[in-house]
Amino acid sequence: MVETHDLTKVYSDGVEVRAVDGVTLSIGAGEFVALTGPSGSGKTTLLNLIGTLDVPTAGRVVVDGVDVGTLRGDRLADFRREKIGFVFQFFNLVPTLTALENVMLPLLPYRRWCRFDLKARARELLQALGLEGRMYHLPGQLSGGEQQRVAIARALVNEPLLILADEPTGNLDSRATEEILALLQRLNTERGITLVVATHNPRVAAAAGRVVELRDGRILGG
Ligand SMILES: Nc1ncnc2c1ncn2[C@@H]1O[C@H](COP(=O)(O)OP(=O)(O)OP(=O)(O)O)[C@@H](O)[C@H]1O
Ligand SMILES: [Mg+2]
Repeated sequence: MVETHDLTKVYSDGVEVRAVDGVTLSIGAGEFVALTGPSGSGKTTLLNLIGTLDVPTAGRVVVDGVDVGTLRGDRLADFRREKIGFVFQFFNLVPTLTALENVMLPLLPYRRWCRFDLKARARELLQALGLEGRMYHLPGQLSGGEQQRVAIARALVNEPLLILADEPTGNLDSRATEEILALLQRLNTERGITLVVATHNPRVAAAAGRVVELRDGRILGG
């Protein structure tokens, strides 16, 4: 599902930082992989490169058999929208939109071309995630765990093959963490969605099928 070949990202504003340094990694369809490593080891950078939100300095990323480096502009945006769901540490919900609107948002510009009823799908997702009573709440009226569940519903609205999550439990207490973890595991085992999750939390890493540890942009022992 995901392959990286000698993937490298160098930031060079003043000092040169090799944020990701020659990472070669293969993640099969249906795997649940935890990316661990200390702060600054390159987890977020690697996720952003895999998710095509960032462009590598060198090396390649292949997602679902497509070398994403060959995609540009609209074709890249279409690819990302069709295949990938993103979950962020700080939820990234729009504060002025309701939970329901936030879930619909990624597909809203494409609503006319959707072969399904976007609003109905967003409702179903929120219901499935235990938020049926929260659809018309604004993010500020929701708990952290509820906000993260809305963000996961939003990541699922395009029925992605791959979910990339950056510290999805980083801002949650232990109960909400368990909830979100169980939810991610269900998506993985029941729907076969491939999960790549950057995390500092040993509980999350223990739940993953495989742990990939980064140090200074490189895979430890890899
Ligand atoms: N836009 C940028 N410009 C310059 N350097 C950057 C940029 N983004 C990240 N870096 C550097 O790249 C390295 C890797 O950062 P990254 O955010 O990938 O680490 P991380 O493992 O996600 O850390 P954390 O656990 O704190 O989230 C760090 O040294 C960071 O300072
Ligand atoms: Mg990070």
